[in-house]
Amino acid sequence: MPPPYFKTSAHLLVCQHTNCRARGSDLLYKALWNALDTSRLAYYKTGGSVRLTESGCLGACSYGPVMCVYRRQDSGLEEGWYAVTDLPLAMRVAQAAHDGKELPTDRKYGP
Ligand code: FES
Repeated sequence: MPPPYFKTSAHLLVCQHTNCRARGSDLLYKALWNALDTSRLAYYKTGGSVRLTESGCLGACSYGPVMCVYRRQDSGLEEGWYAVTDLPLAMRVAQAAHDGKELPTDRKYGP
């Protein structure tokens, strides 16, 4: 049985490659970690379940900051890709993933 800190409902990845960093993805990444921590959504908080990781280029460089989310559903692995991501959008995605609700559709693209 995995330890409790392996409880994950979703994994967020925020691109930290050149073009997204020029559009503020480094600040987004730090602010998102702070927000996940204070809102207790972060996986290491009691009741939290969201992981966050830096990523390399996600292939939509002109539309950064780019973020993607993966979560396991009964139907399989669901993914959502977001362009021009800001902190409010990232937190809505995190909250929806945590709550098991439908992911936000604004600025969502791809698969
Ligand atoms: S640099 Fe972020 S998607 Fe390419």
